[in-house]
This record gives sequence, C-alpha cells and structure tokens, in this order.
Amino acid sequence: MLVVGNWKMNTSHAEAIALAADVVRETEGIAGKAGVGVCPPFVWLDAVAERVRGTQVALGAQNVAAEASGAFTGETSAPMLSDLGCTYAIVGHSERRALFGETDADVAARARGAMAHGLVPIVCVGETLEERKSGDAEAVVRRQLEGSLDGLDVASDDALVIAYEPVWAIGTGETASPEQAQDMHATIRAALRQRLGDLASGVQILYGGSVKPGNAATLFAQEDVDGGLVGGASLDAAGFAAIVRAA
Ligand code: G3P
Repeated sequence: MLVVGNWKMNTSHAEAIALAADVVRETEGIAGKAGVGVCPPFVWLDAVAERVRGTQVALGAQNVAAEASGAFTGETSAPMLSDLGCTYAIVGHSERRALFGETDADVAARARGAMAHGLVPIVCVGETLEERKSGDAEAVVRRQLEGSLDGLDVASDDALVIAYEPVWAIGTGETASPEQAQDMHATIRAALRQRLGDLASGVQILYGGSVKPGNAATLFAQEDVDGGLVGGASLDAAGFAAIVRAA
C-alpha cells in the first residue's frame, strides 16, 4: 500500500517546513504497512527534503521534464529531482492535462525521463464527468493508460505507480464509490497485465479524488486499490496520517 500527498500549489515556505515535520511525526510508527510520500511545490523541495530525509516519508515532485538537461525554461529534470532525494514524480495529473495541454505523448515522455534517472513515475489517468456520463470512462482511461505508458520499459513492479483520479472527484468532495473505484482499478490492472504480464499484479494503483479520513478505509479495502493520491486532505498532517493509518 502507498499513500502520497499532492500538496499542489499550496503552502508558504514556513508552512511547507512545518507540514513536512508534522507529517513525519504523525506518521511515525504507522507507516509500516503503507509507504508514505509527500509532493510539495518545486520551490520547497529542498527544504522539505531536509525534514523527511532518513524518515519513513518519501519525497516526490508534482511533475518532471522529459529531458535530462538543456534549453527548457521553467522545467525541472529527473536528475535534479534525484539529486534532491526524490523517489516519486507525478506525471499526467489531470490539471496538467486540462490546464497546460499535456498530452498522453507528453506524459509518456516525462514518465520515461523520470524512469531513466531512477525516479518512480506516478502516472495519472482519469475521465471527466462528461466522459463518465456518456459511458466512455473505461475507453478514455484505457486510451490514456496506453498512450501514457508508451515506450516505458518497466523492469520491476515497484518502478511504476498508476493513479486513477476521476476528474469529477478531484477537489469536489464527490468521491467515487468503492465500487466505481474498484471497477476502474480492475480495468487498469487488466490493461497493465496485457502490457506487463505478471508484473501487473505488483504495480500499485492508487485512487485519487476527495480521499478523506472518513472514506479512505472503505476505498483501500477494495481488491485493486493499493492506496491513495491525496490532495486537499494532505495539507493537514493529522488528517493525512489518519488516511495513512487506513491503508
Ligand atoms: O493528485 C491528487 C488530487 O488530484 C486529489 O485531490 O483534493 O480531491 O484529494 P483531492
């Protein structure tokens, strides 16, 4: 099991340092079953790395460049993130896709860039409300998954994490039902099996979209739900720890 907090574009410098220290304290001793990670804004990565280094809390980035270096203004490379001590890099978050035009091909290139330098990409997929209402959710997620994993050479089941984040559940309080989550996670697992064979059973598939302390246990109890990618609730250390405890 794995629970990762995506802080998004939140926290001041002081708040990020305090939150990191609080998450380390609140999850000490309970993270044995589940892996724990936090993904602060890029600008606080170094400061947060100082607070989590040597603890049970892993560090992740909210995106990563496809390229390792060069004339890519505003981008941050996988070698840089590895130097800082990052384990994970979120790629293809729906907000990157919708607001910044990242395509499946962009996501695949970023995931390859991450993996090439020892980072574990957390590849995000998920349908919009319109796509779910029109009955296209499964087809959309399959297409995103296939396109976002293109060219990825997955050598072991811990080298890749998938996050299913129905867009209509992100930040809305409208969490997917456990059945909805399990149905789509099973679809993702089957698609991974077609592509990775036996490795698929060990690849962690996280659910994201209004995960809260009150609903985490039921979601995480689903057969193919291997943990959560948590947004809003990750900004409160005690609530985030309660979600970790449920994993
Ligand atoms: O990446 C996780 C995020 O998209 C989920 O956000 O606030 O619905 O937990 P939230």
